[in-house]
Amino acid sequence: HNNYSLYFQILTKLLTKGFQIGLRGPPGDLAPDFKEKYFKQVSDHFNYNSLGNGTYDQRYLITDQYWKKGNGPIFFYTGNEGDIWEFAQNTGFITELAAVQGALVIFAEHRYYGKSLPFGKDSFNIPEVGLLTVEQALADYAVMITELKKELGAQKCPVIVFGGSYGGMLSVYMRIRYPNIVTGALAASAPILSTAGLGDSRQFFQDVTADFEKFKPACRDSVQGAFQKLNTLAQQKDYRRIQSAFSLCKTPSTPKDIHQLMGLLRNAFTMMAMLDYPYSTHFMGSMPAFPVKVLDLSLASAFILCRPTGMVYNSTGQLTCYDLYSLYVECADPTGCGLGFDSYAWDYQACTEIEMCYESNNVTDMFPPMTFTEQQREQYCSKRWGVAPRPGWLKTQYWGDDLSTASNIIFSNGDLDPWANGGIRKSLSPSLIAINIPEGAHHLDLRESNPNDPESVIVARKKESEIIAQWVKAAMKESS
Ligand SMILES: *[C@@H]1O[C@H](CO)[C@@H](O)[C@H](O)[C@H]1NC(C)=O
Ligand SMILES: *[C@@H]1O[C@H](CO)[C@@H](O)[C@H](O)[C@H]1NC(C)=O
Ligand SMILES: *[C@@H]1O[C@H](CO)[C@@H](O)[C@H](O)[C@H]1NC(C)=O
Repeated sequence: HNNYSLYFQILTKLLTKGFQIGLRGPPGDLAPDFKEKYFKQVSDHFNYNSLGNGTYDQRYLITDQYWKKGNGPIFFYTGNEGDIWEFAQNTGFITELAAVQGALVIFAEHRYYGKSLPFGKDSFNIPEVGLLTVEQALADYAVMITELKKELGAQKCPVIVFGGSYGGMLSVYMRIRYPNIVTGALAASAPILSTAGLGDSRQFFQDVTADFEKFKPACRDSVQGAFQKLNTLAQQKDYRRIQSAFSLCKTPSTPKDIHQLMGLLRNAFTMMAMLDYPYSTHFMGSMPAFPVKVLDLSLASAFILCRPTGMVYNSTGQLTCYDLYSLYVECADPTGCGLGFDSYAWDYQACTEIEMCYESNNVTDMFPPMTFTEQQREQYCSKRWGVAPRPGWLKTQYWGDDLSTASNIIFSNGDLDPWANGGIRKSLSPSLIAINIPEGAHHLDLRESNPNDPESVIVARKKESEIIAQWVKAAMKESS
């Protein structure tokens, strides 16, 4: 199963590479010309003894093609759980804004992801994995910004941080933790409340369900019915029928296999809801435009569940069968950890600081009952990583329950995004601004503008640009 992971990682890499080349096309006015660089980064910012003066190479992408040298602001993307190129290629709003506001653009890769592995291939051993914390990642960004400003003669340039999803959480935390370095933050689709254990554990899958129901109210019943049918077959131990219906590579043979299949199916719906963009995309896999709408789930067929499976796991059209355990890996994040090394890192984060005890229950949502309680999380994490999660830490450390003394943060969220209601939906003060995008999926506002953009995201981006321009102007005035 380990070999499979490796195989998939290579395959994903090849595919991503293909997309990179395919997506670049002829250089247009706004095709950013990023240079890939490495920064000698401190391995352990907080313990002067454990690793002495050890360093690692942290990857970042930079372009100064729009920069008013020495005067324009710095737009800094706080990289999240994956290869930094993937974020750079799906966050065109930042470069579009940089072109207008004369900014230097930097995308920094999060430690333990992509190529920024502090201990190379040993990074996911115990105890080497221990330096993977939110605090270390933020300190990396703070040190990198400080050093690069010196190197580039940009000491006077205000820094605005940007991030989507977990990256958006990091942007919020950067502004809170290092207000001396960061002037303001645009946090898109950042579930800072739900990941701090605040809110309702049923909310996430309830909102995934709501997305599908919104387009076809009958969808809920047919999906519930289909899962029920699968359940009945499993109870009858009719495993061959299940194998052929779902094109599985191996015949399932245990309740564990069925549980894995249900997890894989639920994950397909989750991905479609998150990536419900108004045009086809190549972010976390390939998706057609409006995947939720495209998929007609109102048919009375029992095996409509195969369609989301195909759309999410077989978007390349290359699979002859589905391997339950290599396409989807169950982990400490019930919304999925992805595959390869990046999935190990995210799993570890979900086992330590980031809380995601989300459950489905077939009552408030359309999925089979699958719990993930704090107790289940503890058991899993102790077995997998030898750690006990510390519920409440993220809330204590980054003010989840009371952000009122923070400032200069935009919290943007799309109503189609199941993560949205785990974030800030109402402005908390004149400088803690919530922007809601009724027709938006997962951080749609960070993507480059597109002819198919709904009006609501155009309005949101305009508002974001204005606020950011004001922050930059005020900071310049203060420092002059
Ligand atoms: C770490 O510090 C020690 C003592 O100052 C020095 O001898 C050594 O070369 C340093 N190692 C690295 C990797 O910089
Ligand atoms: C994957 O997609 C291709 C092309 O549509 C199809 O021929 C193939 O049967 C699909 N694989 C599975 C396992 O359904
Ligand atoms: C889901 O709930 C419905 C009733 O609303 C029930 O008929 C069905 O058996 C349940 N499905 C599962 C998988 O538990």
